[in-house]
Amino acid sequence: MLKVHNIISRYGPVTALHGADFTLNGGEVLALVGTNGAGKSTLVMSIAGHVIPQQGQIYLEGEDITQIALHERAARGIGLVPEGRRVFPDLTVKENLITGGYVLPRQSEKERLDGVYDIFPRLYERAHQLAGSLSGGEQQMLAFGRAIMLNPKVMLIDEISLGLMPRVIMECYEVLEQLRQRQIAIILVDQNSDASLGFADKAIWLESGHVKWQGKAKDCPLLLESVVG
Ligand SMILES: Nc1ncnc2c1ncn2[C@@H]1O[C@H](COP(=O)(O)OP(=O)(O)OP(=O)(O)O)[C@@H](O)[C@H]1O
Ligand SMILES: [Mg+2]
Repeated sequence: MLKVHNIISRYGPVTALHGADFTLNGGEVLALVGTNGAGKSTLVMSIAGHVIPQQGQIYLEGEDITQIALHERAARGIGLVPEGRRVFPDLTVKENLITGGYVLPRQSEKERLDGVYDIFPRLYERAHQLAGSLSGGEQQMLAFGRAIMLNPKVMLIDEISLGLMPRVIMECYEVLEQLRQRQIAIILVDQNSDASLGFADKAIWLESGHVKWQGKAKDCPLLLESVVG
């Protein structure tokens, strides 16, 4: 589904990612772990198209998407739940959802909206409420819903649990499980690395933009450390 080959990404003179290499099949989950500034968001943003890598290739279903624009990647099914959610506070819930899927044909909009409302009945109840008045957990649901409006093949979720209560975090993981069942490939960043490693199949541990370790999530040294220690 997704193949990332030796991606190097920079912000001006700063190289934030010195080469990441992995493949991800539909229904597989990859956890990105590492301390602040490790390059997790940079890798996510490089796949989403907010950052164009300086070197390396990204393939979606065998097609090279490395150089194509953000909105075209979205149209091909790369959904992003960004760090901090970034919902539009002055638009309603429904308007936020529609902006999420604007790159797809209007004819399928109602069906896609209904699909999101099926997963998140609370968003249906609040369809006409301004997004800025939602709770943090509801905003995270809206950010998920906005990405699901794209009928995504790949979901990128950066900082899934930031600022959320344990019960809401559990709900977010339940939604992720539904997405996994639908054979969506998932890349997940959670400041609680035990949670993301416990859920994921594969893991990449980044430090200062370098891959320190990668392999099966259950074998990740970060997870073992916290179990032992
Ligand atoms: N827009 C930017 N301009 C310049 N440097 C940036 C920019 N965004 C990130 N960086 C730098 O790139 C490096 C990687 O940052 P990144 O945000 O990818 O880390 P992260 O692993 O997501 O960290 P966190 O856990 O704090 O979210 C850091 O050194 C950061 O300062
Ligand atoms: Mg980050």
